[in-house]
Formats: sequence, C-alpha cells, structure tokens
Amino acid sequence: MPDAEQPIRRSVWRPAAPRPARPGLAGKRETDVVVIGGGIVGTTTAVLLRRAGHEVTLLEATTVGSGTTGGSTGKVTALHEQVYAKLEEKFDASAARLYAQANQAGVEQVAALANEMKPAGARCRFERRMACTYAGDEDRVDELRQEAAAARRAGLPVDDASTPDLPFPVAAAASLPDQGQLDPFAYCEGLADLLEREGGRVYENSRVVDVETSDDGCVCHLANDAALTCRHVVVATLLPFLDRGGYFARTYPSRSYGIAVTLKKPAPAAMTINLGSPTRSTRAGARPDQLIVVGEHHKTGQDPHTERRYAALEAWTREWFPVRSVDFRWSAQDFMPADSAPYIGHLALGGDRLYTATGFSKWGLAAGAAAAVMLTDLVGGRRNPWLELFDATRTDVLPSAKKALTENLDVAKRFVGDRLSAIAAPNASDLKPGEGAIAELDGDKLAVYRDDAGALHACSPVCTHLGCYVQWNPAETTWDCPCHGSRFTTDGEVVQGPAVKPLERKAASR
Ligand code: FES
Repeated sequence: MPDAEQPIRRSVWRPAAPRPARPGLAGKRETDVVVIGGGIVGTTTAVLLRRAGHEVTLLEATTVGSGTTGGSTGKVTALHEQVYAKLEEKFDASAARLYAQANQAGVEQVAALANEMKPAGARCRFERRMACTYAGDEDRVDELRQEAAAARRAGLPVDDASTPDLPFPVAAAASLPDQGQLDPFAYCEGLADLLEREGGRVYENSRVVDVETSDDGCVCHLANDAALTCRHVVVATLLPFLDRGGYFARTYPSRSYGIAVTLKKPAPAAMTINLGSPTRSTRAGARPDQLIVVGEHHKTGQDPHTERRYAALEAWTREWFPVRSVDFRWSAQDFMPADSAPYIGHLALGGDRLYTATGFSKWGLAAGAAAAVMLTDLVGGRRNPWLELFDATRTDVLPSAKKALTENLDVAKRFVGDRLSAIAAPNASDLKPGEGAIAELDGDKLAVYRDDAGALHACSPVCTHLGCYVQWNPAETTWDCPCHGSRFTTDGEVVQGPAVKPLERKAASR
C-alpha cells in the first residue's frame, strides 16, 4: 500500500503498468464512420455503430479511457443531484421524463455491455448499487424532497421516506435502487477490445486537428498529416474541438478532485452525493475497504491553490471514516451545459455528417451510453425520441441563457480584459523547483515552469484555441485555460482540448 503521505498521482482506475498503446493512424485511409475520442461516448458509439453494420474507425488522441471517463467515479446512475427539478423548471415535465428514460436506459446499456464482456476477461465488473442523494442538514431538506418528487414524476422509483445508515450527517435522502458502479477505465478498454474483435479499428496517439466536410463526405486530418476519408464523423471529445456550433460558449469547464483511500473497515455500499457545496461524492472502490471520494469542483483555470482541494477532501474523509491510508489522488474535468441537458446529436452548423455529445455535467457514464444509442440511431437515419430534449442543434431556452451569459462573462473578462502587461509577474529566476507562473523571462511574460532538477521550461501563455491566457495549475503541474478548459503540459503539449495545437515553446536558458 502506498505511504499515507504520498498518494499516487493518477486516477485509481489507471493501471500501474498500462499496456502498450495501439499504433497511431498513418497515411491516407478510408472508412465509413470515424469516431473521435476513446471515452465512454466514443467507445460505446463505435461498438453500437459496428453492430449496426457500419465500418467504424475509432481515433483517440492519447490512449483509450485516459481522459475524463477514466478519471470519473465510475458511478452509473440516473440520479443526478437536482437535475429533475431543474429540467421541470427550465423545460417541462416531459423533458424530465425523457432525461430519466435516456439515463435509465444508459444504466442498462452499460450493464449489458459490461456483462457481455466478462467472459472475454475484461476487468469492468458491473456491480448493482443504490444511488443516494442526501441533504446534510435541515436547510436542504425541502430541495431534496422537491427533487425526489420531480424524479418520481419523471418515472424513477425514488424513495425519500427512509434514510440510509451512513457515517456522516444525513438529514434526509433520496435513493434509487438498481443503479451501478464499475471501473470506467477498464470498461472503455474492454469496449475498444470488443470493437476490434468485431471488425472495427482503433488507433491511439492519433490526434485529429481538423475535419473537412463536403457533399461527398468528410476528411479527418491528423496532427501527423495522416488523413481518414469517411461518410460520417462523431466528435466525442468531451467538448467538440471543432468550433462549429460554439459549444465552448454554451458550456463552461469545471474540474473536480478525487482521492481513493483504504479504510480500517468496509466502505458503505451505497453510492452517495450531497446537495449543496462543497460536493462530497462517495462510492466503494474495487475492494470492500476502498473508498473513493470526489468533490471540490471549481471552474477550470480559476483557482491558483488547487493543492488545497486534495487537502480538503482528505480532511473530510478523515473526519467521517477510519482511514488507514490515502492511496491515490487525481482530478478530472467536465463541461456544464447552459440548460442542464447535454447536447447530443448533429453538431450545430456542422451539416448532416458531423455529430457530437457534450455537456454531461459530470454524470457522463449513464448519459454517455444513452448518447451512444442516440448517435447510432442518427447515423443510421433513425430519429430517436430522446433527441427531443438533447438535440445538440437546439437553441438554448431563455432562463438558461442568463446562466450561460453569467458563466461566459468570466470568460469574456479574461479574453478581453486581461492584458499581459497588466498581469503582475514574478521574475522567472525566483521560481523554485516545482513552481510555475506567468513570469518575466528575458523581457517577456511567459508561462514558465522550473522542474525538480532546476531547469526552466517556457511557453507562450496564449492558449492556441482562441487566445486567452493560461493559468498555472500547481496540483496537476499543467497550464489550464480559464476560457474553455484547454490544458497543456509544462512544455506546451495539449493535454485536453478544445485546443489541438501546442503552446508555442520559448527558449529558457536559465
Ligand atoms: Fe478557448 Fe483557451 S480553451 S481560449
């Protein structure tokens, strides 16, 4: 077991010795449908499309499962904090019903595929668990009751009459039985293997940087000049890296933090999450004495003290559980939609050959599987009834536009208001090993990091997506863009889009 003081800095789901990556795509090829992105949406969509008779190629910029899906809690549920009350308010009761139907079907889709993969040796065991949303104090009980009632009107058998026995204060709870949990990284890997066994192709380290469309079809262009010609493209990259449709302005990026601990006794069986802030989302891990705790969300690039997020999670966990050791810590990012519903379907302004799914509000496992069903139907020319709510070409409803505007005011302030000259920057020579900052180096203000060996790494601080200034993320040692969530390594390589090009490297001799 790792030292309690030194948790391993990677998702609890990622193996210590990852298997070798699949080869990247090279040269010019053709296929029927290209799916870009190896998370839950991409891998599930690729499998379902293959089973619907399409020739399918999956392209992943890094390795399958290593993005947000592999950093999620692995909860697969249709119970999502207060979403049903919000959907009734922003849309109507029928929208809440569609959301419930799609997500409950997503739970069963994941269960079916995971169970199907078991004989092939995949590690993604699907365990049935109760999902529980709770109010930690009396102030939140009315909201909890309203959400439980809205979820029931939406068709889910939510029970708020009983309170489960949990080790932290629970004033009231809403519980949904027969939900599930799994290892989301192993699940994506298993789906990629399944796709290959059934005749699909999977390429890793294959970053698509552009997609050309015409009446005749599409061409996906990769960073290494490889190209793939096809009829349809599903962009399943968390946030579409293609700016058509402006999803970067209709969502905002939010990071969350996770720890995995070993307890001195078994973890509670239920998957739990509280209402309100700070969020504390828990589930049992791969072993009975392992507990996963996730929370501490904030807008990407807008917290200079990210290390404190892990400390807060650990302090809460130690307050309520007998912790033997803190074993893993990691963070992940998702995009929050303007009106509480993910955007799924044809990419707005993308013609009839481009598709996407984005804005899962950190509930992307069940909803991602449901998105795969919708996208498969659309590519096959079938109209899926759930798209009445999720349609990615929808015009956002009025009340949510205000919320989107508020979120994007933050973005606009940084995009327009921040000028490099106005940013107080230390001298790069003052940076200690492990520190990063927008700093003065040879008369320029650059994104500078000093590594543990004392060497400086410098890049332009201008995000290659739309030009905002990146911010230092000390917990992850990355440069994060506060505008639309792109992230970069200390040498400027893209960790996360929508940016597809690296930060410009600068000389850093001292
Ligand atoms: Fe859009 Fe950086 S992610 S400007």
